[in-house]
Amino acid sequence: MHISTILAALGAALVIGCLQVSASEPANKTEEFVATDEWQVVAEGQAIPKGLHVRINLQTGVKEAKLLDESERGTALQSKSSDEEKPLSLEHKADIIEESVRKSKEHRSYAELRKAYKDFQKNFRTDGEVIVQLLEQYRNLSKTPVQSELKIKLNVLENLEYLLHQIDNALVFIDNGSLDDVLLPIVVNDTNTDLRISAMRVLGALTGNNPKAQIKVFERNFGSHLAQILMTSSNSAEISSALHAFGALLRKFPLAQQRILSTSGTQALIGVLRSADVELRNKAKVVTLISDLVVEKRSVIDASRDASPEVADTTVAQYVLLDFETWLQSHGYCAALEAVLSQDYVHLLDQPEAVEQFIIALDTTESLCQPLWSKSATLRHALLTIRNRFAHSEDEYRLEVSQVVAKVCERFYDKQKHTEL
Ligand SMILES: *[C@@H]1O[C@H](CO)[C@@H](O)[C@H](O)[C@H]1NC(C)=O
Ligand SMILES: *[C@@H]1O[C@H](CO)[C@@H](O)[C@H](O)[C@H]1NC(C)=O
Ligand SMILES: *[C@@H]1O[C@H](CO)[C@@H](O)[C@H](O)[C@H]1NC(C)=O
Ligand SMILES: *[C@@H]1O[C@H](CO)[C@@H](O)[C@H](O)[C@H]1NC(C)=O
Repeated sequence: MHISTILAALGAALVIGCLQVSASEPANKTEEFVATDEWQVVAEGQAIPKGLHVRINLQTGVKEAKLLDESERGTALQSKSSDEEKPLSLEHKADIIEESVRKSKEHRSYAELRKAYKDFQKNFRTDGEVIVQLLEQYRNLSKTPVQSELKIKLNVLENLEYLLHQIDNALVFIDNGSLDDVLLPIVVNDTNTDLRISAMRVLGALTGNNPKAQIKVFERNFGSHLAQILMTSSNSAEISSALHAFGALLRKFPLAQQRILSTSGTQALIGVLRSADVELRNKAKVVTLISDLVVEKRSVIDASRDASPEVADTTVAQYVLLDFETWLQSHGYCAALEAVLSQDYVHLLDQPEAVEQFIIALDTTESLCQPLWSKSATLRHALLTIRNRFAHSEDEYRLEVSQVVAKVCERFYDKQKHTEL
């Protein structure tokens, strides 16, 4: 939050600075900008009279200007600050700085730039400093739930979630002992669902694509705590954030897959598929995770056949030992997926994204379930209904999905030669 505020202020300062300089440049009299009440594009190098409302699209660099509204006269700069109160979209902060600096360089002296940078530095704290301060703030709060502190706790977690996507930041967080004294107590024991959801989002953020963090999170046994939440929760947002954190922990980490999926993990995933309370969106996330993990093992093993034998032998060995497909079969994955599609296909007619996720899973796990699925009249009916409905849609995405469904139907049912409803 602090960083984004500083960056927003810096970005805005540079943009405004740049406008003031360019406005006072020697103007080509024949090309002076004539403002109206409508936004008009200002040409490159064209002079702008003072006192106009000017905006720059930071993506395209296009500059536009118009006359101030009656109410805005004399407050052009103040009115900017109300924009800044809106949280800046954080993904764009780098673009904004880069763009602002690039634009300002064209007009500002080195001394001016240097001063702007010094001012920026003075207020700037590294992400690591911000993280340690957020943790201190969190640890200052009571360990037991206090309603008045809930908002502050949620706010701290939200800021951490944003910062911990960065690998180095995640390691600062972990090195400070925060898995043990911040996240674990919330995920394991806290009675507040919102807090658990936020903590699992932080967990997902810090574990995603971060092998060192994955190991630490695995060592703290978060895998079985997440599986526990998946087995017991009926809150859709909680299941969603638990699935995200669970996937972030397991992906590309065969040892964790082996340990967690051979015990409660597979059962937890299939339990979500079977649960009557869980919405289709979350069931689609489950089958996507299952499908990704099945494909991950296959592609590592395939790649190892082509590569020289010494390449990551231990990793390959871990995947060879991983028997996820067998665990899926023994926990009833094939029947569970058949039941979801057979019973809920009517709701899927409005959710082409979820259909696509289910179809990809049918495709990647066909070898496990073909005997059951190809004999299932209810699954066949569901798939053909979806295919036909989407095939008559005007929507391009539904048409595409219908073709993928059609391919799967052909493979499963074509031998029986009656694919028409
Ligand atoms: C001013 O604009 C006119 C018309 O576009 C152009 O011919 C002329 O070269 C410009 N003069 C300067 C100093 O840029
Ligand atoms: C935490 O509490 C200590 C002692 O009360 C205080 O000095 C410190 O400023 C607090 N830190 C934060 C970040 O709130
Ligand atoms: C976490 O950071 C604070 C502030 O820098 C420090 O006092 C504390 O010792 C750190 N904790 C651990 C376990 O490193
Ligand atoms: C959860 O609560 C139990 C019972 O109060 C306690 O023994 C345990 O240490 C707590 N676990 C964590 C991770 O805080």
